[in-house]
Amino acid sequence: MTLPSLVLRVTALEWQAEGILSLRLRAKDGAVLPSYEPGAHIDLTLAPGLTRSYSLLDGCPGPEPASYRVGVALDVRSRGGSAHVHRELRPGDVLVASAPRNHFPLVETAPFTQLVAGGIGITPMIAMAERLSALGRAWRLRWCVRDLDHLPFGDWLAQHADRIDLHVDARDGGVWNGWTALVQGLPGDAHLYCCGPSPMLAAYEDATRNLDPARVHLERFGADLPPPDTSGTVFQVRLARDGRCIAVAPEQTILDALQSAGIDVPCSCLQGVCGACETRVLDGLPDHRDLVLSEAERERGDTMMICCSRARSPELVLDL
Ligand code: FES
Repeated sequence: MTLPSLVLRVTALEWQAEGILSLRLRAKDGAVLPSYEPGAHIDLTLAPGLTRSYSLLDGCPGPEPASYRVGVALDVRSRGGSAHVHRELRPGDVLVASAPRNHFPLVETAPFTQLVAGGIGITPMIAMAERLSALGRAWRLRWCVRDLDHLPFGDWLAQHADRIDLHVDARDGGVWNGWTALVQGLPGDAHLYCCGPSPMLAAYEDATRNLDPARVHLERFGADLPPPDTSGTVFQVRLARDGRCIAVAPEQTILDALQSAGIDVPCSCLQGVCGACETRVLDGLPDHRDLVLSEAERERGDTMMICCSRARSPELVLDL
């Protein structure tokens, strides 16, 4: 599904903590922006070929938000995205963005919600917590940071301090490891959400293994993952609107093959985690290798991430 692009101007860059900035973005033409639900993100094209996904911070944007706000942590292993934001981007710069999309939706009717964030994984949690507060729902947040220098959004933390369990590795004896007690202490109908680095998500998956999967939600950072296995046999991709038929070689992704043919398709993480390259499948059987789609969506087979997924049939027909 290709969403329309937005042209946004950076109207403010605010220092939040060591290595963490927040960006305020408004439509270049001053128009209102598409609304979104908590957990949604936008893909920002920071420079040609450099697109990255960022969660939207404000949880109650209303039907016609005037601006978006995202948080960006400087990643020392940055492949260019966060380094570009921290070193090159200035107020006044204009960026192209995708419309908001949400692969980490909030179940707003849950009687109790437990949020768990590691580091900059706090950004979707801020939006969720704000929405839950506005709805009068019960929630708590376990927030883990490495030290107080790397603790962003201090004003927000102060406003909600009575619902936040803050763990500071450098102050509180190392990495937080209270998963068993946390999960055992939850009401049986609680929903859980986690966003953070890979070791935290692995511990979370382990601790919630016996819970109803419908109550367990997580979002991954693409940069933390090994690249997905994209190898396989050759197959054909027919582009329903463009009319061309493109061969995808064994070590090529569909995205590679399309780009080699001069076809421009939105993409960001290239690791099957952000959803930017999601494309409608009109015919054929996808071989899903992403971490975005649910089991039910995989079984429906009508959409796929073309940066990593392949085909189980000799041909796929895509809505391109
Ligand atoms: S580019 Fe992120 S899922 Fe494909």
